[in-house]
Amino acid sequence: MIVTGHPPRNPQKSGLPGRLASTVAPVLERAEGLDEESGLRKLVAGNWKMNGLKAEGLTLARALVARAAAGDPPDCALAVFPPATLLMPVAETLRGSGIALGAQDCHAEASGAHTGDVAAPMLKDAGCAYVIVGHSERRIAHGESDAEVCAKATAARRAGLIPVLCIGESLAERERGAELEVVARQLEGSLPEGLAAGEIVVAYEPVWAIGTGRTPTAEQVGAMHAHIRRRLTAAIKAGAEAPILYGGSVKAGNARELLSVANVNGALVGGASLNAAEFWAIAQSCP
Ligand code: PGA
Repeated sequence: MIVTGHPPRNPQKSGLPGRLASTVAPVLERAEGLDEESGLRKLVAGNWKMNGLKAEGLTLARALVARAAAGDPPDCALAVFPPATLLMPVAETLRGSGIALGAQDCHAEASGAHTGDVAAPMLKDAGCAYVIVGHSERRIAHGESDAEVCAKATAARRAGLIPVLCIGESLAERERGAELEVVARQLEGSLPEGLAAGEIVVAYEPVWAIGTGRTPTAEQVGAMHAHIRRRLTAAIKAGAEAPILYGGSVKAGNARELLSVANVNGALVGGASLNAAEFWAIAQSCP
């Protein structure tokens, strides 16, 4: 197990750095007044995808750091996932801010002849605490199977990173009523062995909600997150303590409703995370 938990939530909002720990802190925290079902602290994570040259990425990171320092921090942990070229300069910018850094993918091997790939230990070395694995854009565009995603998540754990394991059904799968079965299969096929508490984050991202402006209803999200929680708890010892994020068209306007659903322990935000004010408003929506 790597690091053990954030400092307790402080209702007086006494400043972000003290409350959000360092860039290597996981999101696990058990305390009064957190998510009613799981007791976990929420995580709001920004997936920048393949967006941003150095000037834009650093402007965005600096804007988040400025908000973090401004004295009205959100009641959640924060992380950003810039493109690989920006990891090191963004790590520098985030230093001491309490905002964690993550990467968007890693290779399953720790090193070797894999032109163009980035290994998990390299991401750790660059300052990352997290790495996304199994995002649907990679499962679809790069044909990544559950077994490959599992190998990547295992490599991430070996390197001391927390994998953010993405799962989610397509529109066709939901329309034929197969979403619970598809998501359970992806989860069980992609989870690394022997995880302890705080060593994994799961992100439920229905493919049809990503970048489309469509979101499932609160009831649909609640049913799916309860299902994932049950399967996680059955599959791994630390299943009750793994945050389950919702992702797919999260915006400032719908964040509060989505983040209020039982077993939604945070959000993985794509497009809206490219705007500092909107991303901050999403984080501020954590109930
Ligand atoms: P979106 O992307 O917020 O732009 O829908 C979410 C994601 O893919 O993580």
